[in-house]
Amino acid sequence: MIFYFSGLGNSHHVAKGLVEEGERLFFIPEVERAGCLDYTIEKDERLGFVFPVYSWRAPRLVSDFVQRMRLKGTPGYTFMVCTCGDDCAKTESYFRRDLGRAGLTLDAAIAIQMPNTYVNLPGMNVDPTELANDKLTKAERRIADVRALLQRRERVSQMIVTGAAGLKSDIIQPLFYRFLVKDKPFHSTDACVSCGLCAKSCPLQNIKMVEGRPQWMGNCTTCLSCYHHCPQHAVQFGKATANKGQYYYDENKKA
Ligand SMILES: Cc1cc2nc3c(=O)[nH]c(=O)nc-3n(C[C@H](O)[C@H](O)[C@H](O)COP(=O)(O)O)c2cc1C
Repeated sequence: MIFYFSGLGNSHHVAKGLVEEGERLFFIPEVERAGCLDYTIEKDERLGFVFPVYSWRAPRLVSDFVQRMRLKGTPGYTFMVCTCGDDCAKTESYFRRDLGRAGLTLDAAIAIQMPNTYVNLPGMNVDPTELANDKLTKAERRIADVRALLQRRERVSQMIVTGAAGLKSDIIQPLFYRFLVKDKPFHSTDACVSCGLCAKSCPLQNIKMVEGRPQWMGNCTTCLSCYHHCPQHAVQFGKATANKGQYYYDENKKA
């Protein structure tokens, strides 16, 4: 069984590429909404988690779910596959810690580079189109390789770590969550045409349309789905996203 989270579709695409025929695939926000925390793992069944890297660790909603879910049975093999723009730092060791608290151990930790989605800080933007397309092309081969490696139940660590990992995951991540993971700065500009795509695309169902305009309800993980899906570029995060690019994984567009 595989549990996944995805804001802009990169990790969803990867999860779909890894799931085996007949294997269960669960979207974490959906099972959380349904209050499903109890799962039975069959004899020798594998357990997988697929998610984007957020501030050099797993998103908190993934970490929280892992520690709160109640699993009956012992997985035959446990893996995590994360997608990242460029650097995972200590994502693997923090995720091992989360799993350890749930009495689980990790057999494989794998990163797949995908187009970047984070734009809420100065100097951060989506990848130029050529780079994004290059990442998508390479990701297809990588997904096939990772799928085979997971089928063989290899015990591997294939993370992307570029440097200053402790500073990023230990020190910046808590500050990032404290000061930047919030929805108060989100607003819509007068370019908004009330299409409601921001609300429809929010994985946490955190946006309500009020008099034709989006209203954020306080349960946000800053995946930026609302920002990137807006066809008018009318969703903004404070002043940080003016003139930034947009991206989401488009299943219909061939890389
Ligand atoms: C809140 C947030 C934080 C991010 N932090 C990182 C990071 O620390 N390192 C990195 O390489 N990419 C980072 N990214 C980029 C995403 O991990 C990457 O684009 C991922 O593939 C997005 O997956 P999704 O489409 O499934 O949401 C971040 C993106 C967001 C929205």
